[in-house]
Amino acid sequence: MRLFLDTANIDHIRHGVRLGIISGVTTNPTLISREGKISYKELIQEICALVPGPVSTEVLAQEAKSMIDEAREISRWAENVVVKIPATIAGVEATSVLSQEKIKVNFTLCFSLNQALLGAIAGATYVSPFVGRLDDIGHNGIELVKEIVEVFSNYNFPAQVIAASLRHARHCIEAAKAGAPIATVPYEVLMQMIRHPLTDLGISHFLADWKRVMG
Ligand code: G3P
Repeated sequence: MRLFLDTANIDHIRHGVRLGIISGVTTNPTLISREGKISYKELIQEICALVPGPVSTEVLAQEAKSMIDEAREISRWAENVVVKIPATIAGVEATSVLSQEKIKVNFTLCFSLNQALLGAIAGATYVSPFVGRLDDIGHNGIELVKEIVEVFSNYNFPAQVIAASLRHARHCIEAAKAGAPIATVPYEVLMQMIRHPLTDLGISHFLADWKRVMG
């Protein structure tokens, strides 16, 4: 399983990369807007230079033709940039054209197996089911991840599943058990994944015992 960071924050990305466990980044317009009014292109180029793997960033266009133009432009920003295209009918058309041009697409905002199937058939490199947002409306996001992983494997689709919209450490465990090849996690969730009170307690007991005897 590979871990990506779901953020556009440079400090968080630097830290994740330094830990040696982050092999990609995913962003979206909301995450980018959290960094203030900056140059979109410059921020993505800075992230791409820091990350040893794919960096997904989303088109803002809604129509197929303008999505394709925007994606072509974004694809020139860096070698490791991946264009996020939403799971709409225009997105399917854009994904088909872009994949033929060898532009890597992350088919995003996927909330059903049918959407994921169309993205994979259109040639997307990555397909991103949004777990937390499905849970928010009373559905089961992890079940969708499981279904997509199973169906892609039935057909040997090369598209890789990115479990996205993960909100807490339990989601990461469930995404791993569902067989997601990639999970993209917010920085705070990455920090939650390592924390355990018994580890902290264990360290302080070891140090206290050592100090008592060794001084
Ligand atoms: O990777 C998708 C993610 O950024 C969406 O997360 O928490 O806004 O549903 P969230």
